[in-house]
Amino acid sequence: MTIYNTIFVRKSVRSYKMESLSEELLDSLRDAYEERQKLFMGIETELEIIDCVNKREKIAMFGVKAPYYLALYTEEKDKGIMNAGYIMEQLSLFLYTKGLGCCFVGSPVVGRKYKAIGNKKLACILAFGKAKGSAVRVPSEFKRMEMNQLCVFKEQPRQWMRQLLEVSRLAPSSMNSQPWRFLVYDNKIHVFSKKSGLGTSKKLKELNFGILFAHMMVAAEELWLDLDLIRLENISQKNFENCEYVLSAVLNT
Ligand SMILES: Cc1cc2nc3c(=O)[nH]c(=O)nc-3n(C[C@H](O)[C@H](O)[C@H](O)COP(=O)(O)O)c2cc1C
Repeated sequence: MTIYNTIFVRKSVRSYKMESLSEELLDSLRDAYEERQKLFMGIETELEIIDCVNKREKIAMFGVKAPYYLALYTEEKDKGIMNAGYIMEQLSLFLYTKGLGCCFVGSPVVGRKYKAIGNKKLACILAFGKAKGSAVRVPSEFKRMEMNQLCVFKEQPRQWMRQLLEVSRLAPSSMNSQPWRFLVYDNKIHVFSKKSGLGTSKKLKELNFGILFAHMMVAAEELWLDLDLIRLENISQKNFENCEYVLSAVLNT
């Protein structure tokens, strides 16, 4: 299965076999991290693989109990967390290609040891390992909003837009909040964040959008699209009642 194909079948795994993974596999994960795409340049990150099988490490957190956790640390810079979500989702999809399962841990409660590495702060944690059941599902089992609930079409979408919108629709989000909204206009996909009341922290919001953009860029790579994710000044200056502008997906022709 390619990374792109995993988007259509992956699911969050919350129950794991407490079994070790081979050193070879863990090395290939480190390699995948080294080869990762970044969303923004100039933000340093660092990855740590936390082994809870062999080292009996205690990662004090509620929720998902897994044999391994990936901890991603980032410099505290504007959009650093979004960049971390972008990187982590690529690693998550990579792990599905290896037949493993993953689950983001939204608000991990970790010991002091895991809060920072040097000047880099913990940005996100991904639980992973061999799933007890299946790590994949059929597309009809995705619980997602319909496209017409997420997207306003001001013009007939091109084929590349349809493909990008579908991988966006399937992206995982904290509590399945699906905070993204899309506007197809002027041969671009403009991405907005739904203004929410209480519940979703700024950090989770940024993580969610990083994950979304990872799906878009993985699809763009698969489909040989020369895609830019950029913030357009003319839209940035507008005020929207229910949404905040995030970025636009623009195809270079
Ligand atoms: C940023 C983020 C944080 C999440 N935090 C948790 C969590 O703390 N516990 C949990 O069980 N699932 C967590 N999830 C998994 C979501 O609940 C899940 O992605 C969503 O319900 C969609 O389901 P799916 O991943 O199976 O497609 C998180 C997902 C994201 C993207």
